[in-house]
Amino acid sequence: MRREAPAAARNRQPILDALRPRLPAEGLVLEIASGTGEHVVHFAAALPGLTFQPSDPSADARASIDDWVRMQGLGNVRAALALDAAGDAWPIERADAVLCCNMIHIAPWEAAIGLIAGAAHVLPAGGTLYLYGPYRREGRHTAPSNEAFDRDLRQRDPAWGVRDLEAVMSLAEDRGFGPPEIIDMPANNLSLIFKRT
Ligand SMILES: C[S@@+](CC[C@H](N)C(=O)[O-])C[C@H]1O[C@@H](n2cnc3c(N)ncnc32)[C@H](O)[C@@H]1O
Repeated sequence: MRREAPAAARNRQPILDALRPRLPAEGLVLEIASGTGEHVVHFAAALPGLTFQPSDPSADARASIDDWVRMQGLGNVRAALALDAAGDAWPIERADAVLCCNMIHIAPWEAAIGLIAGAAHVLPAGGTLYLYGPYRREGRHTAPSNEAFDRDLRQRDPAWGVRDLEAVMSLAEDRGFGPPEIIDMPANNLSLIFKRT
C-alpha cells in the first residue's frame, strides 16, 4: 500500500528548506494532493510544533499516506482526507497554512481555480499558501526539460499542462492574496509563497 515516488524523495528536502522559515511555529497545515505521503511525513517529522492534515482525491494515495504516517509513528499527522481541490465544499473549515506541490499541471485548470478559492476560504488573514512545481514565465518555458514535460503532460491529457505563473498570480490576486514570494528551486521548479491579505 505504501507507495514511493523518486521525485518526492529528491525534492522533499529543498521544499522543507523553503517552508521551514515561512510556516508558523504552530498550527494546522493542510496539504492538498499529498500523493504518496512522502512529503507530509518528512515535513511533519522536521516540524513537530505543527499538525499536518494530508489529503488527496485518490483512495490509493490516501492509503499510502496513512501507511507512511503509521510506519513512522508520527503523532502530528491526521488521517488523510478525501479532498478534490476543484470540489465545491472542502471537508475542512480552517487551516493556518495550505501546501500544494505538483498538482496544478497534472489536473485540469479547474483544480487550480478550486485550489486558490478553497485556500482563500480556509486561511485567515496572513495565512500562507505555498505552491511548488514548474511554471512558464512571461509566456515562455524556463527550460527545455519543462517544455518536454509540458508536451508529455498534454499528450497524456489535453486539459493538463505546465501553467503560466502570471495566470496563477492573477487567480490568487482575485481571491485576496498578495503578490507571491518566488524562489527558484532545483530542476527548474519554483516555490510560490502567497499571503492571504
Ligand atoms: C504528481 S502527484 C504529486 C504528489 C505530491 N504532492 C508530490 O509532489 O509528490 C499529483 C497528485 O495530485 C492529485 N490530484 C489530481 N487532481 C486533483 C484535484 N483536483 N484535487 C486535489 N488533488 C488532485 C493526484 O491524486 C496526485 O496524488
